[in-house]
Amino acid sequence: MSYKRILLKLSGEALMGNKKFGIDNERLAQYATEIKDAADAGCQIAIVIGGGNIFRGIQAEKGGMDRVQGDYMGMLATVINSMALQSALESLGVETRLQSAIKMEQICEPFIRRKAVRHLEKNRVVIFGAGTGNPYFTTDTAATLRAIEIEADVILKGTRVDGIYTADPEKDKTATKYETISFTEVYEKGLEVMDMTAFTLCKENKLPIIVFDMNQKGNLKKLLGGAKIGTLVEVEHPVS
Ligand code: GTP
Repeated sequence: MSYKRILLKLSGEALMGNKKFGIDNERLAQYATEIKDAADAGCQIAIVIGGGNIFRGIQAEKGGMDRVQGDYMGMLATVINSMALQSALESLGVETRLQSAIKMEQICEPFIRRKAVRHLEKNRVVIFGAGTGNPYFTTDTAATLRAIEIEADVILKGTRVDGIYTADPEKDKTATKYETISFTEVYEKGLEVMDMTAFTLCKENKLPIIVFDMNQKGNLKKLLGGAKIGTLVEVEHPVS
């Protein structure tokens, strides 16, 4: 196992599968199976999931809604996805705990870092809902913040592309994939890995990022087993 403790960031949109809105049960079950396999292999797993399949704060703002209001609605959407994932994992017999950055004690635990770490030590999958609990921050930033707080070895960003490319592979057929890339290179080349707040937080706290295709069956477990999957954004070590 190359990583003992990971923070897995999943996108809300990915949960839609081929649907236009909401949660696709097949995709949800697939993700739960992948996560179970990784947990069974001995990895401590924390998860942050987005909410874009249900509500997007930024788009709501374009439609005239107050940004802060929209962001809070987006945070609630992440809790809905987190609850769905928790159920799917539990139906496979995986022990889970859901912690929310916004208190809703009838539904889940509040976010308490020390408790989250204890849960991980007991091999429970910990899902963090409601982003950072603050407007103007993305779930990528929430994932990064939580990863640093729980001292995860790496943040795994599951996407629908299999890594970071020289250009958008869905638009430019000549684009090639990086196996590894440094934080500085990502920045200098203007590649989109995460939003700047999240990216800078990773860089400053020396938290490596792996971008990989979560929809490819078995990828998560293979990656944790040391296979070269996706793109690794490496922490730079000063030349001595
Ligand atoms: P340890 O005792 O440390 O092993 O952890 P534990 O999570 O089993 O203990 P705890 O007694 O805190 O939790 C028991 C169950 O209650 C777990 O399913 C928790 O997720 C749940 N739980 C704990 N705190 C809260 C809360 O504030 N709200 C909700 N809804 N559930 C909670």
